[in-house]
Amino acid sequence: MIDASLPVAMFDSGVGGLTVLHECLVALPQEDYVYLGDTAWFPYGTRDPERLRDRIALITEDLLERGVKLVVIACNTATAIGEDVVREVAAGYGVQVVPVVQPQAEIAAAITENRRIGVLATTNTVESGAYRRALEAQGRALEVIEVAAPRLAPFIQDGSLFDEETMEMARGYCAPLREAGIDTLILGCTHYPLVAPMLQRILGRNVRLVSGGHAVAAAVQRTLTRAGLARTGDEEGAYEFFCTGPIADFREVATRFLQMPLGEVRQIEFADRGRPSVCRADGAV
Ligand code: DGL
Repeated sequence: MIDASLPVAMFDSGVGGLTVLHECLVALPQEDYVYLGDTAWFPYGTRDPERLRDRIALITEDLLERGVKLVVIACNTATAIGEDVVREVAAGYGVQVVPVVQPQAEIAAAITENRRIGVLATTNTVESGAYRRALEAQGRALEVIEVAAPRLAPFIQDGSLFDEETMEMARGYCAPLREAGIDTLILGCTHYPLVAPMLQRILGRNVRLVSGGHAVAAAVQRTLTRAGLARTGDEEGAYEFFCTGPIADFREVATRFLQMPLGEVRQIEFADRGRPSVCRADGAV
């Protein structure tokens, strides 16, 4: 039985989804949250899509088994590659799903003035064509310039995001976007808001950056309210964290990015559940 007292679940390949969690903590402070960072399988952006879909199903099932009232896919790559998988698994539990791609596409299409929208995302996300389809469905004639940035999320996840090397890398990825004269850039990976100041400096003030967090928090609010599952009252909710890689690594980077105490972080070993062909504890595919 799904009821309003249950937590909202969200997952990402690592710490990127914390940019989504933070927006939800601000917009819906009375809710409880369960966050799972699949750090043993990071990065999703370059994983084999078919195996990633299996992994995403496993993660979703794990969260649902904990008893949650909503699943937020706080990862663009997981949304692009496996949104249908998450929906299918969640439907079996009668739980709704909020993804990241669609809400961002709606905002970007609404705010662009010159109709040239850039998408910076992982290789898997770009190759899936998820943003292109979502933008085309907005009913405006838009020029979409997609750039795959395979190295950017790993740099951020490692915690080396403010290095000169990251800046140089970002310059390279932004070059075709500058050339195309975009006025709106979709940050198509939940890790990228963490380097937004860098991207804004490279692209200039006139380019508007659209990250997922704000739009997703609004979608979570709408979905819970419509379903009669939103919590009321002034009491601040709790949050808890799970990761699949080493706890100390997750704690260090996640605390730095969330800028709040994490509390207890627990590790999940999917390999122990007898599905080694889908996931090995060492993260190898
Ligand atoms: N945070 C993930 C996303 O939103 C990407 C990082 C990765 O695992 O490659 O796409």
